[in-house]
Amino acid sequence: MLKMRGFHILFFALFICFSCHQEEVSSNCTTSPGLQELSSFPIGIAVDMDFLDFDPEYERLLNQQFGQLTPGNIFKPSNLQPAEGQFYFDEADRLLAYADLNGKALHGHTLLWHQQLPQWMEDFEGSPAEWEAMLKNHIQSVVGHFKGRLRAWDVVNEAFDEDGSLRETIWKQHLGASYIEKAFRYAHAADPDALLFLNDYNLALSPRKRRAMFDLVKDFQRRGVPIHGIGLQMHISLSFPSDAEIGDCLKDASQLGLPIHLSELDISVNPLARNITFDENLAQRQARKGAYVLSAYQKVPAALQYGITFWGLSDRDSWIPSYFGRDDYPLLFDRDYQTKPMYCQFKALLNP
Ligand code: XIL
Repeated sequence: MLKMRGFHILFFALFICFSCHQEEVSSNCTTSPGLQELSSFPIGIAVDMDFLDFDPEYERLLNQQFGQLTPGNIFKPSNLQPAEGQFYFDEADRLLAYADLNGKALHGHTLLWHQQLPQWMEDFEGSPAEWEAMLKNHIQSVVGHFKGRLRAWDVVNEAFDEDGSLRETIWKQHLGASYIEKAFRYAHAADPDALLFLNDYNLALSPRKRRAMFDLVKDFQRRGVPIHGIGLQMHISLSFPSDAEIGDCLKDASQLGLPIHLSELDISVNPLARNITFDENLAQRQARKGAYVLSAYQKVPAALQYGITFWGLSDRDSWIPSYFGRDDYPLLFDRDYQTKPMYCQFKALLNP
């Protein structure tokens, strides 16, 4: 009997402890001051120009909350060089002017990728030397145009496959593995002050991919190839990767000694594309996941905290529903620009 009571007490104590750990996070917290004012490192978002231009509430929140901007699409090759040799900088310059006017840093994204390439690049025919000249011309025209005005560039995006091999992009096919090194060298020559990043996704979920990428980074460091940071995209969901996997990834990344950018953070609550309602339970779980990501990042040495960028401002402008064709709620603000528990959790952790 005494033993039973002991068990009960133990259970009760565990229950209390469990519930105190899982304390509810409110969704009602003040938006002022903004996140950036509370943070020692830049906190930013990927900007969607349609929202910036046409949605005053989006613009107001962006301006109030964030200190760094990544163009969501308009710096990609299909936008900047739509026809061979014809560069289009009007929109990009407009974003840069906005950033300068409002004291925001700009993170360039991205010079080389396998997606959002103009058709002519995909169809390009030529010798390896001509391919290299084409790659060089794109990189140096673009980086040169913004010289001295951007904080950094994602030079190569998503270069690896999940098994750690190099992705078979047009760049790899025509120039071999050294296209990555070439891209970094050409970018550095065009703007020696811009920090140059290698950016990829699933690095917490996929240790093989992570090892391959980090080995390449170490090789660059040994050989003096100009690389200055690594981008961990962090398109994650409530359960995957696990907290432990995220922690391991950040620990591994810190060992490289380079600035770490959580470059495209969003936390999907519906990765399996079910019919869902975004209820309080999901909101709380999302807030806890976000809290884990932020607290793990806060343990990274300050000198390596390049910043955290959310891939969008609110559940209204997130890329996930339209890109993947599913209902989702992955960001800090809801579709009416109201704060979500994840936002309040960020505030609490930035300002303990
Ligand atoms: C996405 C944009 O947000 C979408 O609007 C576009 O349709 C596709 O690209 N990884 C990246 C980003 O590096 O550039 C992608 O952005 C999201 C995945």
